[in-house]
Amino acid sequence: MDINFELLMNKAKEASKYSYSPFSKFAVGAAVLMSNGEIYTGCNIENSSFGLTICAERCAIFKAVSVGQKEILAIAIYSPNEDDCYPCGACRQVMYEFQGENEISVITEVNGTPVVRKMSDFLPFGFRI
Ligand code: THU
Repeated sequence: MDINFELLMNKAKEASKYSYSPFSKFAVGAAVLMSNGEIYTGCNIENSSFGLTICAERCAIFKAVSVGQKEILAIAIYSPNEDDCYPCGACRQVMYEFQGENEISVITEVNGTPVVRKMSDFLPFGFRI
């Protein structure tokens, strides 16, 4: 499948507008393309009980998995606060869990341009049972 990286990044940007991040004031949006061709979006959602915060990436992935989609093809991550915003370690592990036959493409934005990297750049020697 041909992946439209720009479209995916635009969806992540749109999703970052819904970020609920009054504590860190660090907004993040994510968009995942699943093997059914659908895109699911997510944003970070913080909580007064700080440890309950969920990252944008896991929000998007859990939305996809919760409607039966278990194979990620690509994920775009965007923050208006930081160029080239990387997924945290916990999200890398969750992304890896739902990697299928094809390696996941991870898209960030650098100076307004989407940059595409491979999942293994972010998590080499990933763990899966
Ligand atoms: N955050 C994400 O949404 N994704 C990441 O991969 C990094 C961190 C959020 C969590 C928290 O709401 C804020 O960014 C600051 O850590």
